[in-house]
Amino acid sequence: MAEKVTIGNAELWLGDCREVLCLLPPCDLALTDPPYGIGFAAQPTKWQRRDGQAPEDWDNMTPPAWLFGLLAEKAQELIIWGGNYYDLPRSRGWLTWYKPDSPPSMASIELAWTSMDMNAKMLSHSISATNAERVGHPTQKPVRVMEWCLSFAKDAKTVLDPFMGSGTTGVACATLGKRFVGIEREPRYFELACRRIEAAQRQGSLLEQSEPEALPQQLSL
Ligand SMILES: C[S@@+](CC[C@H](N)C(=O)[O-])C[C@H]1O[C@@H](n2cnc3c(N)ncnc32)[C@H](O)[C@@H]1O
Repeated sequence: MAEKVTIGNAELWLGDCREVLCLLPPCDLALTDPPYGIGFAAQPTKWQRRDGQAPEDWDNMTPPAWLFGLLAEKAQELIIWGGNYYDLPRSRGWLTWYKPDSPPSMASIELAWTSMDMNAKMLSHSISATNAERVGHPTQKPVRVMEWCLSFAKDAKTVLDPFMGSGTTGVACATLGKRFVGIEREPRYFELACRRIEAAQRQGSLLEQSEPEALPQQLSL
C-alpha cells in the first residue's frame, strides 16, 4: 500500500513506482535517476560504512522496459540518468555530468538520456562538492546537477521523479518554484526526502520574504 505526504507544492509517495505511477496524472517533465543495475548500493562504500548502513540490493537490477514506456506516456519530456544502462530510443540530446576529481577506479562521467531534440551538453561538478552535500543516500545526485537538468525544460511546471531517493530532484524543484511529485520505496530514503524538500521550501520562502522592494524608477529631468 502506498502512502502520500504533501509538503507545500510537493506530493511525495512512499511506495513502489511500478504500482503508483499508473495512478498519477500527466506531468510536464520526468527527471529521474533510476537504479543503474550495477550493484553500487550492494558495495560497502565509505559512506555506507560511515553511516552504519548494510549493503542494499535495489541497484542490482534495472527497471523493466515497460516502466520507461509508461513514463513516456505520463510526461511530455524525459530526462533519465543512467540512460546508457537502459534500452531507450535513439536521441541526440544527451546530458553529461563530468567529475574532474574522479579517482581512476571510478567513472569520470555519468550520462542522462533525454527525449529532447537538442545539442548534447556537459556540466563539470566535482565529487568533493558532491560529498559535501551527502545526507545518507549512497547514490545521491548533487542539487546543482538536477537544477542544471531543469534548465533544459524551463517551461515545465510539474516535475515527476519516480525513483526519488533522498529527494534531490524535489530540492531542485523547490529552489526553482516548480511543482514536484516524487515516489520512493525505501522508508529511510523517503524520510530524508521529506526533510530535505521541506527545508528547501522553507529556505525558498524565506528568500522571497527578504527580497528587497523594487527600487523607485529613476526620473529623468
Ligand atoms: C539511484 S537512486 C536515486 C538517488 C536520488 N537521485 C538522490 O539524489 O538521492 C534510486 C532510488 O530508487 C529507489 N527505488 C528502486 N526501485 C524502486 C521502485 N520500484 N519504486 C520506487 N523507488 C524505487 C531506491 O530505493 C533508490 O533510493
